[in-house]
Amino acid sequence: MRRAGGIVRTIEWYTTGRLAARRVCWADLEDAQCLHNDPRVAKTLSADGRPLPLETTRRMLRRAVQHWRTEGFGLWMFRTRGTGEFIGRGGLIRYNAADMGGPEEVGLAYAVLSPYWGQGYATEMGDASLFIGFEHLGFDRISAWTLPTNLASQRVMAKLGFQYECEIDFCGLPHRFFRLERRNYHPLHTRIEQAKGVVF
Ligand SMILES: CC(C)(COP(=O)(O)OP(=O)(O)OC[C@H]1O[C@@H](n2cnc3c(N)ncnc32)[C@H](O)[C@@H]1OP(=O)(O)O)[C@@H](O)C(=O)NCCC(=O)NCCS
Repeated sequence: MRRAGGIVRTIEWYTTGRLAARRVCWADLEDAQCLHNDPRVAKTLSADGRPLPLETTRRMLRRAVQHWRTEGFGLWMFRTRGTGEFIGRGGLIRYNAADMGGPEEVGLAYAVLSPYWGQGYATEMGDASLFIGFEHLGFDRISAWTLPTNLASQRVMAKLGFQYECEIDFCGLPHRFFRLERRNYHPLHTRIEQAKGVVF
């Protein structure tokens, strides 16, 4: 992390061309459950491919809220700028060695409600998250991994510049692991237009 006198500067609210992103919080439970209840989303997001129960969403949200408190970055909830419709969530998560069964990683995450698929939203979320990760938080590398069958996610990674590295096990399932090094990072066209910073 880039620190000046031990201070980490990050962004908890921002807008892109089409989206408004806000740091995840407890009030997001309903939207998070809506995403986890979407059968097409759950297919690649939950371990058994089925919609996640509310209790699991609550646990995941608790971890996501706590992650922001301890790390100073995390997931954002994304809404359309015009109408404020909830689109999905995405951002950066630090996974420790126990999560990964190897060295810790900062991973890029994204999930979009299925009616909005194919409109470039995951790419826009990912592009903005990478910009913040590399340019504001100072990471040297960011990783991403997905099920081998999740071709849409692999296409998003390819568009963002990730390179395939290896196969891994994650949560007991085989995953395809990709990495993007800072030296190979080229932002796409997403502009962060307004942002509210926060100091940790
Ligand atoms: C993966 C996911 C986030 C993509 O969201 P999205 O907003 O549709 O993504 P984008 O529109 O930015 O890009 C999707 C790309 O995948 C391509 N794609 C979609 N389905 C595909 C398939 N079956 N095979 C190959 N490419 C596919 C699209 O054509 C598009 O590429 P293009 O812009 O070159 O045409 C979305 O499908 C999702 O939320 N899935 C469930 C949650 C999930 O799997 N998250 C990722 C976990 S690693």
